[in-house]
Amino acid sequence: MTNDSGAPVRPVDWNSMWTAKARSLRPARLARIVNSFMGVPGIVGMHGGLPPADAFPISSISFGLGPMAGGGVLDISGPKDTVAAQQYCFAPSGYEPLRARLHALTLAQQRPQGAVQVNVTCGSTYGLDVVLDLLLERGDPLLLEEYTYSHALEAQLMPKGFELLPVAMDAQGMLPSALESLLSRRRAEGLRMPRAMYVIPSGQNPTGAAMGPARRAEIYEVARRYDLVIVEDDAYSWLQYPDGEGAVPGLAGLQRERLAAGAGSRGRHSVEAGVPAAFECQSPCNSRVLTC
Ligand SMILES: Cc1ncc(COP(=O)(O)O)c(C=O)c1O
Repeated sequence: MTNDSGAPVRPVDWNSMWTAKARSLRPARLARIVNSFMGVPGIVGMHGGLPPADAFPISSISFGLGPMAGGGVLDISGPKDTVAAQQYCFAPSGYEPLRARLHALTLAQQRPQGAVQVNVTCGSTYGLDVVLDLLLERGDPLLLEEYTYSHALEAQLMPKGFELLPVAMDAQGMLPSALESLLSRRRAEGLRMPRAMYVIPSGQNPTGAAMGPARRAEIYEVARRYDLVIVEDDAYSWLQYPDGEGAVPGLAGLQRERLAAGAGSRGRHSVEAGVPAAFECQSPCNSRVLTC
């Protein structure tokens, strides 16, 4: 099999990417048992500690959605939806109607080539935390822009003890030539090669750099050649000028031959990450994690 440019397609070896923590994760067995008895007529569940439907504080909620969320109204009403929105266990990846909307929005905005799985998280910072824990161990090298988002740095990247490898930037953000020379130098010197990069392609924080489509393709190409997972923080994709909201898709849209993972936010931030199918963790806001 070959890609668009005729180069051979290499399948992603996800098993070699996961951290020890990720490999040790198992589905929650108790949740499976509890869920299998839920809603079965005549059964009153005394297991799992699930509150009864009439104990929930919210009986209905209605969100008017702006254009960037696809417009219309998202209603949570009636016993089935209100329980689904408030009960334990039912939707560990997020409230399903919201997830479906975010999924549609991701397809429209990012135009990914492969399947995308969306997970809703409480803010992109939390999505980033989850993704980094799945991909990197303490001491692992991580590529990032030479100036980066201070909270990601202080709350995640430094406390997690990664070896941070800053890459030089210009007005369009990370420089492909600097990325390439850093990687080839490390390889020549026999240093540990990074498996991932953290990048903010639109409205880069703190520089405001905006990566154009050609630059995105160049960064993606270097990442592809060095087998890098791209953790794309796309908090500001809706603030692109002059063409307006979401004009340039994130790096996820460049995925051609390998699986993409992203962390992004909708509203403000979300997280996308690519596991067997790419997944996007969306907070009510915008960031993204890709593997290319
Ligand atoms: C680049 C970037 N990513 C993420 C965030 C924060 O995201 P969240 O509030 O969803 O955790 C910010 C700041 O608001 C930011 O500038």
